[in-house]
Amino acid sequence: MNEAKSPLTTRRDFIKTTGKIATVSALAGVAIPHVHAAENNTIQIALIGCGGRGTGAAGNALSTKKGPVTLSTMVDVFEDRMNGSYDTLKKKFGDLVDVPKDKRFIGFDGYKQAMDSMKKGDVAIFTTPLAFRWVHFKYAIEKGLNVFMEKPVTADGPTSRRMLELSEQANAKNLKVGVGLMSRHARHLQELHKRVQDGEIGDVMLMRGYRCHGPVASAFSKRWPGKPTEPSELLWQIKRFHSFLWASGGCYSDFYIHHIDHLCWMKNSWPVKAQGMGGRHFRNSPDGEPWIDQNLDSYTVEYTFEDGAKFYMHGRCNVGAHSMYFSHAHGTKGMAICAKNGDYGGPSSIHKNQQPTRGSMTWQSKDYGAENDPYLNEWNDLMDAIRNDKPYNEVPFGVQASVVTSMGRMAAHTGQEITYDDMLNHTHEYAPGIDKWTMDSPPPVLSDADGKYPVPMPGLKKDREY
Ligand SMILES: NC(=O)c1ccc[n+]([C@@H]2O[C@H](COP(=O)([O-])OP(=O)(O)OC[C@H]3O[C@@H](n4cnc5c(N)ncnc54)[C@H](O)[C@@H]3O)[C@@H](O)[C@H]2O)c1
Repeated sequence: MNEAKSPLTTRRDFIKTTGKIATVSALAGVAIPHVHAAENNTIQIALIGCGGRGTGAAGNALSTKKGPVTLSTMVDVFEDRMNGSYDTLKKKFGDLVDVPKDKRFIGFDGYKQAMDSMKKGDVAIFTTPLAFRWVHFKYAIEKGLNVFMEKPVTADGPTSRRMLELSEQANAKNLKVGVGLMSRHARHLQELHKRVQDGEIGDVMLMRGYRCHGPVASAFSKRWPGKPTEPSELLWQIKRFHSFLWASGGCYSDFYIHHIDHLCWMKNSWPVKAQGMGGRHFRNSPDGEPWIDQNLDSYTVEYTFEDGAKFYMHGRCNVGAHSMYFSHAHGTKGMAICAKNGDYGGPSSIHKNQQPTRGSMTWQSKDYGAENDPYLNEWNDLMDAIRNDKPYNEVPFGVQASVVTSMGRMAAHTGQEITYDDMLNHTHEYAPGIDKWTMDSPPPVLSDADGKYPVPMPGLKKDREY
């Protein structure tokens, strides 16, 4: 399974290099150029991937109070997505959205045209499906641009290693890079993290994450409708990216990474291995048509840390099954509610025993007023780093969280125990050559005669997920 290891490809080496668990890169004292904001002090923003989150992230960027910001260029592969995003942002932010028609680009190479139109020190937002992250990041580094990229940042071994190398290049150019793991910017989780580090629940022995609800987003798909509705199979797969492991890491990576990231952050460590299981109970939609995507509909993964502590991640997308969406951490002296509701929702609390009741509560997070929204906090933190030249690179922990997520997914998909090093050093690249794609390129996974794509077969396919 392993190929030759580069100096940074074992978990141990990586943790040694980046600190116990990376938060921002440690660059203090290193002489590197200051890539400051443009001369007139206005930071221009490029939005690459104008969907739901991209529109939200651009809105957050324009809402920061750290100095003048304008949205100056937009890119998508679908004109209607871009127009919808532009109209929404223009209505809300008026003159802060300054994107004339010749600064709006459609197509796979639109990111180059957009970034070519920017100045060093501006910020590019990457909110396409994750498969394009390394392509866009590479070009942004060449252009001297700061970056905000959404999670997850990788779904396979080769691109994880590539992103780590690119992260070093971004450091060498003193670029500031944010990753959309917003739990880390939730003030209640930051306060809880400090209290857990201070020993308030003792040694962390067990953690539990639950994201169990009905089917959401594009995780389950019926067969590609073909022409004339959806002439390009590739673009249709991009539209339904949660259905395809190459595009998103599937529902496991896209949906569970927030709990996986913030629980490991509470433990201040990454797990060394995972084993897990899952299944697809319903292979047909309620109207009887077959589902053709690559996901399972339920997962339980057991992660193990170097000290033997365990973390169980439970995920399910089944109609009518019990809904649970929260995260807990248990220590030798008590327990903590981390996300009370959803990916990060507060209040967080600490309890003096293993029962999360009001009577056992010793601390509960407060209201943080203007800092209640972690999506805005992550932008204020990034802009503060850019304007005041503070070291800021979230890619190392963004990649680590993505690798840990992928190793759990791969463990369930193959039915094997997968170590962190197995995942990071795996040779299967899910979207090879993606940097050269055109609108006419074939998709990286093709369907069979029934319109179905290759699915995981735990115990039968052991070395690869499909
Ligand atoms: N942090 C969070 O809480 C959070 C929430 C939602 C989504 N996300 C992440 O944001 C990303 C986008 O998710 P979304 O829900 O906005 O999806 P979306 O489908 O609404 O938006 C993605 C957009 O990117 C465009 N696109 C795809 N490939 C492109 C390319 N090569 N070049 C330019 N544009 C391209 C699509 O046409 C679409 O408009 C995902 O990685 C997702 O995991 C994060």
